[in-house]
Amino acid sequence: MIHPLAALKHAILSSPVPTATLLIGIPGSGKSTWIKQSELKFDFVAIISTDDIIDALAIESACTYSEMWKQVKFRDIQQQMFAKMQNAIAMEQSIIVDRTNIDRKARNKILCKLPPHYHRLGAVFTCDLVELDRRLRERAEKTGKYIDPVVVQDMLNRYEEPTTDEFDEIFL
Ligand SMILES: Nc1ncnc2c1ncn2[C@@H]1O[C@H](COP(=O)(O)OP(=O)(O)OP(=O)(O)O)[C@@H](O)[C@H]1O
Ligand SMILES: [Mg+2]
Repeated sequence: MIHPLAALKHAILSSPVPTATLLIGIPGSGKSTWIKQSELKFDFVAIISTDDIIDALAIESACTYSEMWKQVKFRDIQQQMFAKMQNAIAMEQSIIVDRTNIDRKARNKILCKLPPHYHRLGAVFTCDLVELDRRLRERAEKTGKYIDPVVVQDMLNRYEEPTTDEFDEIFL
């Protein structure tokens, strides 16, 4: 059987219309890592993420992601993210939204901004909790990006599985 993430990549590359892919998964589930490993060309697919914007600011200020996160106004960062998304849409580019997208409300904030002809793909990232804990600790040590376990638990509680009224295709 073809792996769901391989099928997702194929769906993005073979779609005759632009695609909007929402990655869905709690912190540490591997969304950003998949984007890096997928080798999708970023002139073809725009990555829409508040984390990328904070990371870039952190590099400019020579501090960690978590330090930068405390300094920025999240609303401003979100505005920048939506501006990048609107630019990509204006150019008919495919997009991948690299956020947790954990519940319908969060997903709808993105989905309601898409033109009707965009093909909507939802991809769920899962990870068992022992492995998740290991990954989050390792990432915090390596990069300084620390996610409070309370935040992870809150997202687990809020998780809503994607449905076919939200997406044209779902990769689970
Ligand atoms: N399939 C995998 N196997 C083993 N380790 C992985 C895998 N995917 C990701 N990791 C590791 O787990 C950590 C978290 O992954 P990643 O940053 O991609 O998660 P994320 O879903 O983007 O999280 P966030 O929502 O916080 O941005 C990274 O350090 C990464 O190296
Ligand atoms: Mg990420």
